[in-house]
Amino acid sequence: MKKEKLDQLLEKLSLEEKVGQLVQLGPMFFSEGGEITGPMQAMDMTKTELYQIGSVLGTHTKEEVKNIQSTYLEHSAHGIPLMFMADVIHGYETIFPIPLALASSFDPSIVKEMARLSAKEATSAGVHVTFSPMADLVRDPRWGRVLESNGEDPLLNATLIKAYVEGYQGDSLLDPETLAACVKHFIGYGEAEGGRDYNTVDISDLVLYQNHLPAFKAAIDAGVKLVMTSFNTIRGIPATGNRWLLQDVLRRDLNFDGVIISDWASVHELINHRVAADKRDATFKAANAGVEIDMMTDNYQHHLVDLVKEGLISEEFINQAVMHVLQLKNDLGLFEDPYRSLDKHPEKEIIEVELRAESRRIASQSMVLLENQQAILPLQKEDQLALIGPLAESHDLLGAWSWIGKTEQSVTISEGLLSKTKQIEMVKDRHDYVKLKYVDKVIVALGEHSEETGEGGSKTEITLPQEQIDLLKEVYKWNQNIIVVLINGRPLDLTEIKMYSRAILEAWFPGSEAGNAIADVLYGDVNPSGKLPMSFPRSVGQVPLTYNMMSTGRAINEYNHTQKYVSKYLDNENTALYPFGYGLTYSNVKLSEVEVIDKGDNVTVNYTLINPSMLDAQEVVQLYVKDIVTEVARPERELKYFEKVFISAGASKKCSVNLTSEDIAYYHPDLIKKADDGTIELYLGLDSQAPLIGSWHYKA
Ligand code: BGC
Repeated sequence: MKKEKLDQLLEKLSLEEKVGQLVQLGPMFFSEGGEITGPMQAMDMTKTELYQIGSVLGTHTKEEVKNIQSTYLEHSAHGIPLMFMADVIHGYETIFPIPLALASSFDPSIVKEMARLSAKEATSAGVHVTFSPMADLVRDPRWGRVLESNGEDPLLNATLIKAYVEGYQGDSLLDPETLAACVKHFIGYGEAEGGRDYNTVDISDLVLYQNHLPAFKAAIDAGVKLVMTSFNTIRGIPATGNRWLLQDVLRRDLNFDGVIISDWASVHELINHRVAADKRDATFKAANAGVEIDMMTDNYQHHLVDLVKEGLISEEFINQAVMHVLQLKNDLGLFEDPYRSLDKHPEKEIIEVELRAESRRIASQSMVLLENQQAILPLQKEDQLALIGPLAESHDLLGAWSWIGKTEQSVTISEGLLSKTKQIEMVKDRHDYVKLKYVDKVIVALGEHSEETGEGGSKTEITLPQEQIDLLKEVYKWNQNIIVVLINGRPLDLTEIKMYSRAILEAWFPGSEAGNAIADVLYGDVNPSGKLPMSFPRSVGQVPLTYNMMSTGRAINEYNHTQKYVSKYLDNENTALYPFGYGLTYSNVKLSEVEVIDKGDNVTVNYTLINPSMLDAQEVVQLYVKDIVTEVARPERELKYFEKVFISAGASKKCSVNLTSEDIAYYHPDLIKKADDGTIELYLGLDSQAPLIGSWHYKA
């Protein structure tokens, strides 16, 4: 539909009909053909109001979408189709690894492919918009939603968020296999105090701009269609009612001109935050701030019209908000075809075959090998194995936000291993422990339950349960050739696990093809290449702990670490057990011929990667900078470049990176981003503890 036609349509709508477009409800409201029962009654909603709403959240099947859309269109006055939104986070029915695992690939092409395929499957079930990607930067593994994040680094986060948006949205939303993306949660949600979900957030503007904005900016620059506001406070005001945040930062500074949607009931929760007196006040605060769609409450439905009539909310705002919604429907081609993506896809079975194969490949690229003492891995064909542990035969491998995925259809670790070898004992109880003694290697499958991470999944302890640690110790008595495979959704304190294992494979929640992908990595059919997107602390007491902590007045070093009045713990080290960017391959790839060419306003670093092994490998080369003197305190080091490089067995490869002023620009106290002249130390390596390779004397 042409823009003029959209304008004409908008003009035809009554104020009530316009407000309807800004209301989003669940499919249960339509479950009895719009009869006034249950949810509608609870919201005191009329049939007319129901047939004016703009969008629906959380349908399950294409039949459901078809029914709701056709019933709605029969009753609605102007034939404006509904838009269907859902949380397609890491797959729809075929589940891919959790986002934190995808981030471990350090590979935007992996993320993009995952998003493209998820969109393909979700659109075949009628979804138009996904509430993904989550761009919240996270520094606290106690927070359950760490699983949905890209971890602790702004550059990695921004790079991958762009890839998500490109993958979901493709080249044009008129392509029925694409989804419109909604980046969330704007903003700072990952900084919930104490890692407790929905808790207060209180961060400085510098932290907000430097750490949190880049990923949202990347999404917006990539053309993301919607932004979801977060539950938390920023500068003391909940994001959903924060005019400065939504107008000055999001609309003006980030130049966003798409739809702003609230999070689930976050308009109403302004009352719980005690910044709004009642529903009418909450509606006023949210609309005045600029929230356009009210997700899952009746606040807008029942109060926005009056607020406009009383002149408290301008009709201009309503028109702009409705136009954003209509424009999105138009971008999706819904006016031409309200059933846009239904019945346009290949057969479900064909889609599934492609997605399963890619899910397996992507999962194997997302795992992080944390230990491999005496090269106990990869497993050899002739190895006699035992498999033990609570995750050995479990199907709980999908992780949170896989509500359409079928848990029972995931490939277990035992199934995956059995497809590669018959020389494996399944050790199920104490009577079987004696078998452990006679095998070459024991695989111990440990981890978290999927309910322990995700929304509402915060924890105060980040060790594995005592029974699992006891089991590991018991196995150790019988056989010390232990390979631990971890299924989990957050950085864990692995101090004890490390003491009793020779290899540790961090498999995260790998998704539908979990067991196959794990077996591929354990047997070396896939050379592991994942890197940690978050630091793994030695103890929960160190949290928050990131590689990019700020410089302090009393940092410890090799000379002062025994002194008392320095920044340290009495009972543990400052460093991570496994740092950001860390992960092993089977190839022991080396960096050599590193050369820094300082050209003043830019710098080039040349390097060669050598793969001395008999296996093809991928290594993630990482370049960190430390700006020696800055106007505000800055991180000890910051990632400025990473690249996953493929190197054939026995080969070497020359690579190069160039940094410019943009890479070292930072936010000054006036929130202006610019680079200062001065010395920048450069660190190049294969994790965040990369060694110093030289300096760049930057001069604009
Ligand atoms: C979550 C969002 C999600 C929304 C819709 C909320 O509880 O915070 O991330 O997109 O629900 O399901």
